[in-house]
Amino acid sequence: MSCLRYKRIACKIPSPRLFSTFKLQVFEKPVDGFLGAIGNTPLLKIKSLSEETSCNILAKAEFMNPGGSVKDRAALYVVLDAEEKGLLKPGGTVVEGTAGNTGIGLAHVCRARGYRCVIFMPNTQSQEKIDLLKMLGAEVHPVPAVAFENPQNYNHQAKRFAENLENAVWTNQFDNTANRRAHIETTGPEIWAQTQGHLDAFTCATGTGGSFAGTSRFLKSKSSSIKCYLADPPGSVLTSYFATGGQLTERSGSSITEGIGQGRVTDNLKGDVELVEEAFTLPDEKSIEMVYKLLHYDGIYVGASSALNAAAAVEVARRVGPGKTIVTLLCDGAYRYQSRLFSRNWLESKGLVDAIPAHLQKYIVLP
Ligand SMILES: Cc1ncc(COP(=O)(O)O)c(C=O)c1O
Repeated sequence: MSCLRYKRIACKIPSPRLFSTFKLQVFEKPVDGFLGAIGNTPLLKIKSLSEETSCNILAKAEFMNPGGSVKDRAALYVVLDAEEKGLLKPGGTVVEGTAGNTGIGLAHVCRARGYRCVIFMPNTQSQEKIDLLKMLGAEVHPVPAVAFENPQNYNHQAKRFAENLENAVWTNQFDNTANRRAHIETTGPEIWAQTQGHLDAFTCATGTGGSFAGTSRFLKSKSSSIKCYLADPPGSVLTSYFATGGQLTERSGSSITEGIGQGRVTDNLKGDVELVEEAFTLPDEKSIEMVYKLLHYDGIYVGASSALNAAAAVEVARRVGPGKTIVTLLCDGAYRYQSRLFSRNWLESKGLVDAIPAHLQKYIVLP
C-alpha cells in the first residue's frame, strides 16, 4: 500500500489542497455537537448526468447529514420549535408517527437534547428499522398498518399518546410547518449561496412536502424565474392534483421508493402549491436504473427517493433545455435499503431486473 497519504498527513500540510485538480473542504471551526453538524451539506455536480443532458445537474448531498438523511433538518426544527413555544421542557418526551428517516433524526436530536423519544410505526416495517431506532435510544411502538381515516393509524396513535402525557409533544411532521421552515432557513439559502444565485430550476419529490415547499419558497423569494418541479413516485396523487387544477383522486398503486409519495396536500405543502411549475410521475424503472447509474458512473450510493430526484433533474433538463443549472436533493444513502435494492430475488419480485442496464447488473450482488 502506498504510504503517500500518511506522509502527507505526517508533514502537516497547511492547505487543504491535495492534488492540482482537487481540493478538500475543510470545516474551519468546531461545530456544536450533533445538532451543529446538521445541514451545510455539499452541493455535488453530477458529472454523468450533466454530460448526458448538457445541463449543470447539481445535487445536495443530504446523506452527509449526521443522522444520514435530509430529515435531520426537519427533526431539529420541530424539536427547537416545540421548545421555543414552551411545549417541551427539559426531560420531556417527543412523540412522532414515522416509519423512517424522521424517526432516526428525532432519535438523534432527542439524545443530544436529553428528551425521551417515542416512535409509532406501522407493523409492516422491517426489523432493521425497528432495531436501529431502538439502538438510537427510541421507544418503538409497531401498530397495525391501517388507513389514515382509521383512528388506530400510527399517526393518530402518536398524537393521542402525546396528549395523554405531561411535558410531551407530538411533532406532527406532515402538518407542522416548522418542518418546511427548516428548508426555508437552511436548504434554500445553502443552495442559493453554493450556486451564487445561478440556478434555473429546482426539483424533488415530496413526503411531508417540507423539503420541496421550503426550498422552493426560499429560492423563489430570491428569483421568481427559478422553476420548481414536483416529482412524484407511482401511487402518489400529487401529479394528478396539479394536472387537474386541484382535484384529489383516490390513492392507488405503489412504489419501491420510501419516504415519498402522498395521498393528500399536507400543511407543509399547502401554502406553496402556487410555486409548482409542473408535477410529473417517474416510474420505478427510472428510479432503480438511476440507483445503479449514480453508483457506477459517479460513485454515489443513494436510496431510491434520491435516485428518483436525480431522474427528475434529467427530466427537467429536457424541459428547460441545454446550458441550464438544475438542483435536486440526494435524500439518504442506499445503506438502509441495500438488502432490497441490490437483491436479485427482490428485484425479480418487483419485475425490475430488466430496468437495470445489462452492464450494471454486476452490482446486483445479493441473492
Ligand atoms: C428517503 C426520503 N426521501 C425523501 C423524503 C421526503 O422529504 P419531505 O418529507 O421533506 O417531503 C423523505 C421523508 O421522510 C425520506 O425519508
